[in-house]
Amino acid sequence: MDIHSLLTQARSCRRFIEASPLQTPDLEWLVDCARISPSARNAQVLRYVLVSSSELCQQLIGCAGWAGALKGWGGPSAGERPTGFIVITAAPESGKWTGVDCGIAAQSIQLAAASKGWGCCMLGSFNEEKVAALLGLAPTQRVQLVLALGVAGEQRRLAPMPDNGSFNYWRDEQDVHVVPKRALAEVISKRL
Ligand SMILES: Cc1cc2nc3c(=O)[nH]c(=O)nc-3n(C[C@H](O)[C@H](O)[C@H](O)COP(=O)(O)O)c2cc1C
Repeated sequence: MDIHSLLTQARSCRRFIEASPLQTPDLEWLVDCARISPSARNAQVLRYVLVSSSELCQQLIGCAGWAGALKGWGGPSAGERPTGFIVITAAPESGKWTGVDCGIAAQSIQLAAASKGWGCCMLGSFNEEKVAALLGLAPTQRVQLVLALGVAGEQRRLAPMPDNGSFNYWRDEQDVHVVPKRALAEVISKRL
């Protein structure tokens, strides 16, 4: 598959096939994809906590804010829950590029997951204290981003931005998750 098609397929996924759980080696492979990704100064400050225990997954689901634009949907329910989490951490003094490194690593994981038919949702909205306590994190590590993973259980597609300019995603009549993206002409500000 060419990279544009893979990027099109790699939409955030929030509903999974819980009956087909990811295993720890699957999560390890995803982190291996992040491990070889670019990193500022090649300092590789990020660390990864892998979670495949279903009890912990369930508890982590409750620590996150799910799909703020889907009013009335409180997150994945039984049967559609993520079956793995990768929690990206870094030391508090890890430097000004940590957020950029984290985004690159997360995108590598999301693309790698999509290439296998798995889904991924980056979760920036989470209760850090609760996540740190659940994972038993030392104070020397701060949670940067939480990634929910599993075999994809929902259809997702791109759409042009609506005329009212709203960037909110929605679910259509077929329960497909629709993500509006700005047109190329809107995002290229200059050709010099
Ligand atoms: C840094 C970052 C943080 C995000 N945090 C959340 C979150 O807390 N909860 C959530 O449901 N989705 C979250 N998302 C997913 C976005 O909502 C999603 O990327 C956006 O709707 C566009 O959809 P797409 O990923 O399919 O292109 C986050 C995405 C990024 C990049």
